[in-house]
Amino acid sequence: MFISFEGTEGVGKTTLIRKIHQYFEQQGKQVQLTREPGGTPLAEQIRSLLLAVNHEEQMSHDTELLLIYAARAQHLQQVIVPALEAGKIVLSDRFTDASFAYQCAGRGLSQKKLQLLNQTFVSHMPNITFWLDAPIELGMTRARERGALDRFEQEKLSFFTKVRTGYESLWQAEPERIKRLDATQNAELVFEDALNYVKQLA
Ligand SMILES: Nc1ncnc2c1ncn2[C@@H]1O[C@H](COP(=O)(O)OP(=O)(O)OP(=O)(O)O)[C@@H](O)[C@H]1O
Ligand SMILES: [Mg+2]
Repeated sequence: MFISFEGTEGVGKTTLIRKIHQYFEQQGKQVQLTREPGGTPLAEQIRSLLLAVNHEEQMSHDTELLLIYAARAQHLQQVIVPALEAGKIVLSDRFTDASFAYQCAGRGLSQKKLQLLNQTFVSHMPNITFWLDAPIELGMTRARERGALDRFEQEKLSFFTKVRTGYESLWQAEPERIKRLDATQNAELVFEDALNYVKQLA
C-alpha cells in the first residue's frame, strides 16, 4: 500500500503522517516513512537546492520542475519501489500531486510538461492520497511558528491560493484516489477521518 499526503504549508501533513505511521506499527505492519522532495541522501541534497533562498540567481520554473523530478526518480528507484516490492506500507509526505499543484497551478507551467514527466518517470502511483485542506492563512500561521521560512514558504498568499485551487481540481478529477480532509479540525479528528479511509482500503 502506497499513501501520499498533500496540502499547502503547515496544514498538518507531517503531524498526520506520524500518527498513521504509529497506527500501522501498532498493527505490526512494516512501514517506510518518506518525503518529497527528498527521501534518499541524493534526493535530500536536491531538496536543499530547491528550498534554499538565493538572492543572486532566481531558479527558473523549468529548472525547479526538473530538479523535483530528478529527486523523484531517485526516490522511486531507491526507496519507494523496493519498499513496495518488500510488502511494506509506504507513507510519503508529498508526491506527484504536489508538482501539479505547485508547479502547474501555482507557477503556471503547462500540464503537458508534467504529464510527460509522469508518464516517463513515475512507475507507481499512491493507492490513496490525503489532501489536507485548510485556508492558507491558517497553515501559514502554523508554519511560521516553526521559524525561518524557506523559498516556497516565502511566496505570496496569491501563489498558495492557486496551489490550493490546484489541489481542489485534482481532488475533483480523481475522487477515488484523492480524499479531502478538513484540516481546520484538531489533529486527532483529522487522523480519525484519515483512518476511516485507510480501513476501507485495507
Ligand atoms: N490539526 C491541527 N490543528 C492545530 N495545529 C496543528 C494541526 N496539525 C498540525 N498542527 C501544528 O501545526 C504546525 C504545522 O504542522 P505540520 O508540520 O504537521 O504541517 P505540514 O503540513 O507538515 O507543514 P509543511 O508544509 O511546512 O511541512 C505544527 O506545529 C503542528 O503541531
Ligand atoms: Mg511537513
